[in-house]
Amino acid sequence: MEGVGALPPTERKRESVRRMFDRIAPRYDRMNRLLTGGLDQRWRRRALDAIAIGPGDTVLDLACGTGDLAELACARGARVIAVDFAREMLRGALRRHIPAVFLQADGAALPLADGSASALLCGFALRNFVSLPDAFAEMARVLAPAGRFAFLEVDRPRSAPLRALHSLYFDRAVPRLGAWLSDRAAYAYLPQSTAYLPPEPELCAELAKAGFERLRKTPLLLGAAQIVTGLRT
Ligand SMILES: C[S@@+](CC[C@H](N)C(=O)[O-])C[C@H]1O[C@@H](n2cnc3c(N)ncnc32)[C@H](O)[C@@H]1O
Repeated sequence: MEGVGALPPTERKRESVRRMFDRIAPRYDRMNRLLTGGLDQRWRRRALDAIAIGPGDTVLDLACGTGDLAELACARGARVIAVDFAREMLRGALRRHIPAVFLQADGAALPLADGSASALLCGFALRNFVSLPDAFAEMARVLAPAGRFAFLEVDRPRSAPLRALHSLYFDRAVPRLGAWLSDRAAYAYLPQSTAYLPPEPELCAELAKAGFERLRKTPLLLGAAQIVTGLRT
């Protein structure tokens, strides 16, 4: 893909995304709380509820960032392995003393054995992977048979009036607030990166091809965000 607006061209996407998260890491949590009015943490809890994370689970928090999902999964008694490729995001996670194992690695080449996780969480990160089919294949490899996954992602409402209203906030206000309070390029990239998310039927087809079934999408906040769940066959 050619670079469009704030989107990097495919061959530079990996490095560009990694550097961007390293830059915004110090203000990442505060910006999330501010931009969602604190709803992001409620949505993370809902993602854990959706696949009943609990004691006895070995959870992979893929693209864990500063560890919000890992912390919530640990609080539910799960053993957690959390992976991210951005050193500064991981540094932020380590400062929180979350009782998880944190590893620096690429989501497309995880340093984990086949079938080593009973559940996988991935929050707001699908858009950032260079190749979703490769990422899904790697997720299927590390999940045990019948392992569950939950993706939490941004979305755009379906109905035209809501979509227009949402766009005023997400496409116009968010980049301005981000430029003012954090990093212009990163918060210009945020709304544009939804272009990397395939429509639901295509996403489900890719997940099915990778070996997942019982796929389900749950809209959040009238379609501004979504949770996608499924099972490893
Ligand atoms: C928007 S943040 C989400 C962080 C966290 N999951 C959350 O819920 O806040 C996206 C994260 O994905 C990570 N990431 C993107 N591509 C990755 C890849 N190929 N391998 C590992 N981590 C990746 C980034 O470094 C960043 O920390």
